[in-house]
Amino acid sequence: MIQVTRAGARVDARENELSELGRRLRRDGFLKLPSFLEPALLGWAQDFLDHARFRVSQIFSYGRREAPIDQGLETALNFHLNDGDLLGAIGAIAGRPALSCNGKIRRHAAGRGHFLRWHDDLKGGDTTATISVNLNRVPFEGGLLEVKNVSTGRVRSVANLTPGDAVLIRVGPGIVHRNTPLKRGSPAKLTFTGAFFNYAVDLRGYGSPRRETVRA
Ligand SMILES: [Fe+2]
Repeated sequence: MIQVTRAGARVDARENELSELGRRLRRDGFLKLPSFLEPALLGWAQDFLDHARFRVSQIFSYGRREAPIDQGLETALNFHLNDGDLLGAIGAIAGRPALSCNGKIRRHAAGRGHFLRWHDDLKGGDTTATISVNLNRVPFEGGLLEVKNVSTGRVRSVANLTPGDAVLIRVGPGIVHRNTPLKRGSPAKLTFTGAFFNYAVDLRGYGSPRRETVRA
């Protein structure tokens, strides 16, 4: 098990088990990480989100969704996901260094055009893997993750419906992913969506105003 707790990450997996997880990540384009957030940390995140106010956040050209105005939860989860043991495990699975994680809280709401088109998250080759953590208190419908191998055209579809579970997404040339819209009437989908990078990050600037275009 790979789990993020308030007391640090727990990685209960041997080296050969991590390489098996890596084989599955390369084969399928994604890897489910059950119970990735410990229940206490998940409950704390859900309590925060119950009272959060959101604003529209335009993500470059490939999609649209919402972000909480208060970045407290986002900052806390980034702290927890920059745990050295976790980064080591993710690097072993992905087969390249994971030296930092940078993620954001996102809300996808039904009927508001919230989805992401195909994109690769390569960011110049510095991304080791992408992760999405389910923070919902109530189940959502739709909002699937799809991963496509561009050369074969093969698409794998993943529903990450269990709160606290995470999906690690393969990043590499010729691999793209997207998020489908939620079904009409579905509760909103709340995630911590981040990327592991092959460089260390200076978190001192974290919490500074977002560079994304923001609409009221
Ligand atoms: Fe992505």
